[in-house]
Amino acid sequence: MILSIESSCDDSSIAITNIETLKVVFHKKISQEAEHSKYGGVVPELASRLHAVALPQILEQVKEFFPLLKAIAVTTTPGLGVTLLEGVAMAKALSISLNIPLISVNHLKGHIYSLFIEKETQFPLTVLLVSGGHTQVIEASDRNNMDIVASTMDDSFGESFDKTAKMMKLGYPGGPVIEKLALQGDRDRFNFTIPLSQSPKIAFSYSGLKNAVRLAIAESSEDDYADIAASFEKIAVAHLTQKLKKYFKVKAPKKFAIVGGASANKYLRSQISKLIEPHNCELLLAPLEYCSDNGVMIGRIAVDMYKDSEFTELASLNATARSSTL
Ligand code: KG4
Ligand code: ZN
Repeated sequence: MILSIESSCDDSSIAITNIETLKVVFHKKISQEAEHSKYGGVVPELASRLHAVALPQILEQVKEFFPLLKAIAVTTTPGLGVTLLEGVAMAKALSISLNIPLISVNHLKGHIYSLFIEKETQFPLTVLLVSGGHTQVIEASDRNNMDIVASTMDDSFGESFDKTAKMMKLGYPGGPVIEKLALQGDRDRFNFTIPLSQSPKIAFSYSGLKNAVRLAIAESSEDDYADIAASFEKIAVAHLTQKLKKYFKVKAPKKFAIVGGASANKYLRSQISKLIEPHNCELLLAPLEYCSDNGVMIGRIAVDMYKDSEFTELASLNATARSSTL
């Protein structure tokens, strides 16, 4: 079995995965949303202190598995440096004390592997990764050959939901609360502009939409928030689908996936599903419980890395906040 640790942002999560059967034997996640909500976003120092309490609390529950473990996997990049280090420190301590190897996992690849939890891998595929930190289109030939073919020039898709919620004083994370509010609103009430619609480039930008939402909020009352949320969500998603339409014109992927915390958004799922319908392409989605950050997806990729002996030496294992490649 492999024990996997995820602490790249505000979720402390540990999972145990059976290497042969791919079954998830244990999974626990302690989220810090309530603690960060009053700040409207994640406060790194606070997040790191909370991981330092939560991770050992979860570890206490899995001691019985220690003799069965073959490796320790941990998210090392990208993420918040100070929170990644909490997971890395725990992984190193376990590796030394149990005398088993370390597997260093890229968080974004972990999200892609959320598609394969308790399933065999299915490459090649094109992935839309939408999270709090990233908005990317990735062409994944296999685990070690992934090309980022489009990304955001400023804010990410999930971040635009977080910022909209913050401006409406609705707490953090903004995605689920804006999605819920949008269901009660009129998507056509506010005429926000689709970003970069005149540009032939396949790239994303959310800062202009954020500013338009800021102005709409400033000129409205709380009674208008549902309509603003609905109109915002419509344009935020339309921006993705407009660019993906361009992508599908030049490429013809047989499999297309949406991953990352914001892939839980039902309106996004339905619009992308409509978009790919005429393209003879299969849509892959992760189970809702594994869309946001979790240790299970880290464990799933670690199983494949273990089988290929992709280990990292104790002294080389480190946390890196930013990673420009996959
Ligand atoms: O993948 P994730 O858990 O963490 C990162 O790696 O960033 O993604 C969290 C992001 C947050 O920005 C959150 O607001 C967004 O995903 N999110 C959503 C929804 N659920 C979570 N965005 C839109 N609609 C949702 N239902
Ligand atoms: Zn994530």
